Amino acid sequence: MLLGVAGGIAAYKSAEILRRLTETGHSVRVLPTASALEFVGAATFEALSGHPVRTGVFADVPSVPHVKLGQEADLVVVAPATADLMARAAQGRADDLLTAALLTARCPVLFAPAMHTEMWEHPATRANVELLRSRGVVVLEPASGRLTGQDTGPGRLPDPAEIADLARLLLERADALPRDLAGRRVVVSAGGTREALDPVRYLGNRSSGRQGYALARVAAQRGAAVTLVSAHTSDLAAPAAVDVVHAGSAAELREAMLAAAKGADAVVMAAAVADFRPVSLVGHKIKKSAAEPDPLRLAKNPDILVELVGGREPGQMVVGFAAETGDEHHDALHYGREKLVRKGCDLLVVNAVGDGRAFEVADNAGWLLGADGTESVLANGSKGLLASRVWDAVAARL
Ligand code: CTP
Repeated sequence: MLLGVAGGIAAYKSAEILRRLTETGHSVRVLPTASALEFVGAATFEALSGHPVRTGVFADVPSVPHVKLGQEADLVVVAPATADLMARAAQGRADDLLTAALLTARCPVLFAPAMHTEMWEHPATRANVELLRSRGVVVLEPASGRLTGQDTGPGRLPDPAEIADLARLLLERADALPRDLAGRRVVVSAGGTREALDPVRYLGNRSSGRQGYALARVAAQRGAAVTLVSAHTSDLAAPAAVDVVHAGSAAELREAMLAAAKGADAVVMAAAVADFRPVSLVGHKIKKSAAEPDPLRLAKNPDILVELVGGREPGQMVVGFAAETGDEHHDALHYGREKLVRKGCDLLVVNAVGDGRAFEVADNAGWLLGADGTESVLANGSKGLLASRVWDAVAARL
């Protein structure tokens, strides 16, 4: 892999990105611009990558690095990509080692832009981004939020973990991030709900939220306007260019989903919703002084997916998830097929769970079942890869 680093203040985050890319087991060469080295020293990149760092084409000339590095790469990530770097790349210039490598690379190329909002929105930058995208470069949507100084707006570098996840996705599948959801609005729920017992305790589940966050992240990078209704997760950073709405309990999640689904092109229920909630919420902390604990009395929660299907607008796609273990009678796929019919959704992702699969881990696998009778295997891969397959199916049907 090549990690290009352009000269913006977000260059300080590139060391973290580099560390995460090397964790995949790939060899990573860092190609900073001369300006990037004003922000981060070459020694940092050399120590973390285990390779020498050069900016120009006149070092180590006998090995022809300006040609070889690009030719041999499986993936090029440029993070941060500044307005200037994108302008040079769009023009096909080769005035340093990074831009020369970009011209010789034939592998997937991922740009993670970071700059001030004005620069990001300038027609010159917009045109460069469009040109790069039209040539197959994946130019990420930046995150919104606090920029250098006091201003806020789109232009922040996405979280390093998110960039590393998207890089991994492109290694798994070079065409995972087409801009085929541009102009679409989609809603995704994620995480596990918590049903309060008293002010300090709850009934919860093991959902980490990673699959739902991957769905939101991939949809946003495929051009969709995304609302992510997030229940409790294992401390995940908000994906770039996604509107996040927080919901704690099944009742809150239901309210948020029904509101967000209005006018949406697709709705995906990836959240692990509690089927039951305590009948009554005790207003004070339950004490252990009683001789015998009171039995828990539970009431059934509404099925949000079924409600979304019932209220589906014309042309709207509703996607459900099913985590199944299978039992002595039937396998997980059998129960998935039954659930598709029972829930009435357009698509159902069936995950076989148990034995350390699906929950709290990075990878996922299963089947994608369509109400139109189609069934496909979702081969084992990252949760981003599974998300990209789901959006392929949604985009094809939209
Ligand atoms: N779901 C929901 N509302 C609930 C429970 C589940 O919207 N109260 C959604 C989940 O988000 C998921 C799908 O329904 O998309 C299937 O969830 P799952 O827990 O597998 O199914 P259940 O209907 O709870 O069936 P069971 O637990 O009996 O397998």
